[in-house]
Amino acid sequence: MIVLDKTNKVFTLHTQNTTYQMKADQYNVLLHTYYGPRISGGDLSYLIQYADRGASPNPSEAGHRRDYSLDTLPQEYSTCGVGDFRLPSIEFEPEDGSCLADLRYVDYELRKGKYSLEGLPAFWGGSEWETLVLRMEDISTQMQVELYYGVLDRYDLITRAVRVTNLGTERVRLRRCASLCLDFQDNGDYDFITFDGCHALERNLNRAPLRPGVQSVESVRGTSSHHHNPFVILCDHSAGEDHGLCYGAALVYSGNFLAAVERTQLEHNRLLLGINPYHFCWTLAPGESFTSPEAALVCSPSGFGQMSRQFHRAIRDNLIHDPLRGRRRPVLINNWEATEFTFSAEKLVDIAASAAPLGIELFVMDDGWFGKRDDDCGGLGDWYVNEEKLPGGLEALVPRIRALGMQFGIWIEPEMISEDSDLYRAHPDWALGAPGRPRTRGRSQLTLDFSRKEVRDRVYADIRKVLDSAEISYVKWDMNRSLTDVWSAALPASRQGEVFHRYILGVYELLDQMRRDYPHILIEGCTGGGGRFDAGMLYYTPQIWCSDNTDAVDRLRIQYGTSFCYPISTMGAHASAVPNGQTGRSVSMETRGVVAMTGTFGYEMDLNETSQEEKEVIKRQVAFFKEHYDLIQNGDYYRLTDPFQNGPFTAWEQVSPDRREALVSLVTGTVHASAPFHTLRLKGLDPALTYQVNGGDTYPGDVLMNAGWPLPIILDDYQPMQLYLSAVQ
Ligand code: DGJ
Repeated sequence: MIVLDKTNKVFTLHTQNTTYQMKADQYNVLLHTYYGPRISGGDLSYLIQYADRGASPNPSEAGHRRDYSLDTLPQEYSTCGVGDFRLPSIEFEPEDGSCLADLRYVDYELRKGKYSLEGLPAFWGGSEWETLVLRMEDISTQMQVELYYGVLDRYDLITRAVRVTNLGTERVRLRRCASLCLDFQDNGDYDFITFDGCHALERNLNRAPLRPGVQSVESVRGTSSHHHNPFVILCDHSAGEDHGLCYGAALVYSGNFLAAVERTQLEHNRLLLGINPYHFCWTLAPGESFTSPEAALVCSPSGFGQMSRQFHRAIRDNLIHDPLRGRRRPVLINNWEATEFTFSAEKLVDIAASAAPLGIELFVMDDGWFGKRDDDCGGLGDWYVNEEKLPGGLEALVPRIRALGMQFGIWIEPEMISEDSDLYRAHPDWALGAPGRPRTRGRSQLTLDFSRKEVRDRVYADIRKVLDSAEISYVKWDMNRSLTDVWSAALPASRQGEVFHRYILGVYELLDQMRRDYPHILIEGCTGGGGRFDAGMLYYTPQIWCSDNTDAVDRLRIQYGTSFCYPISTMGAHASAVPNGQTGRSVSMETRGVVAMTGTFGYEMDLNETSQEEKEVIKRQVAFFKEHYDLIQNGDYYRLTDPFQNGPFTAWEQVSPDRREALVSLVTGTVHASAPFHTLRLKGLDPALTYQVNGGDTYPGDVLMNAGWPLPIILDDYQPMQLYLSAVQ
């Protein structure tokens, strides 16, 4: 609910459990007055205190009033060069070369429903949303800044985006445009939580108290990256899964980003989230606008668990833009780890044939099926079937897979080009790269200039021929390198600072086109594993390959970190062969299955090389997953332990929305002799209901949540256990 106090220019956004407020003061400076647990409202500007602070200057209207400074007041969208020395939200440069922004509130607009952002992914939805637009203008240049707020009451979600319009008569260069600025002036002694890692070990949770100055994570790789995720949390020192105040902020964007927190001289905190200003410069001719990506906020007064569940619900229901909304995702088998580039049609059919009787529903043919692609040095860009490997093309192969009762899926990497490809020989200038400089290879490949429409059109035309040639139900859209040599032959020197962002807009445009042209195709995102696991990609691709690391033990951490923002139903997770290719570790098929089914679930191995005993295990896992699909994929998710603590086990739980069913999953850590007994307290159950556990005895919900469930002593490392609970009354 949005409440306006027009007289005092106070704007209050209420969600079910939170309240957010701003106020335009006597100088029309837009102040941030509150964000936190839901309160009744009123004008919260009484919280703001004024004092003369040395070295903090005063705007001209304040005259000699030295207690009024933009440097010390909580700003809704921070400015630059005119007195606020903290992190700026915006920087622009008119033709006189100045870099000054002094934004003042002008007016507002209230709309039913949710705003949308042209060319960019954004949360969507109907009448349950409300939109507030606050218009500001620079006092001198006629640069207009519109702050967009979307309010989704039931999920405690507040979205923000910014539109900058040049209303003047000369060109302006926009050098920075954050999506979100959030000032906390309550001296909160917060922790900053980020999700960091590297290829094959993405999204490790890191938590540290804020210290004076700026702390940040960012990407300048052209992707949101394996290394830092565009989702961060600010929270009380004492906040945990079920208690404490926390703020989650996710950027709905897949390119370079910056997430920074500044702890100031007065121990206030400012969070900034948006496109990374590194090599960003967007020229706005008179009348032109620039729209920032969207940022999404959830505040939880009761810990991380509630924050995550709100993000999960909102992402599932209001972000993923699957044309076949709510479609049931198939259990899949992918040939990559089994064959890499070396396969024949017979081999693929063999793998599919071994999977079909186990209940696996989709066969995915990964990298290596096209052009001259026998290793990762060639072929990218040549999107036609390699008939030496697949005689008769997909027209011959796909019916054989479908005859097994399986759907067929295919791998593509549209953004890339190999120097050893027909496409590169015809269009070497289509790869990103500055004139006169050698290009930097990544995984032996170059990147196509996706900021150029003719490049995207050509690639898509070729891919369409493939998609039209057979009955294809799934596409894995991969992307296997960071961007370098970011220079486009299609833009003048003065606009090269637009290429990083235009590249991502190009990726979004093509994904959107494919989604519309082939609504029946399920698109899975992938970037060398989880290098672009972000809310932007999730708009187009309902699931994303979580990591190239399929080791079940490492996956406990990767999926744990990922779950703080992103739902289980978005995490591509496969059980693979042992010893694992990334870690050399061997764990049981039972363990691999339990971990992978806390994701979109599939297998990535040659089941012909699997024992009959393991096949029986797989058959049971697939049947179990299908039987409890809704609970596993769409249930409320509870983290019961933290795998980074190296405790005796890692446990998690899904609870159905009506709380009549729950599934508890657990994997032990490394065991030691004379192990103590442990009791696992469950969460999210209905205290008044009685639950039957694994078809056996019954226990009241309040008992299972408070007294808990006694765990047996398990004598082996990394062993799984599952408890299925169903209400009996
Ligand atoms: C990286 C992906 O993450 C893998 O799953 C696989 O598709 C390879 N690329 C293929 O090159």
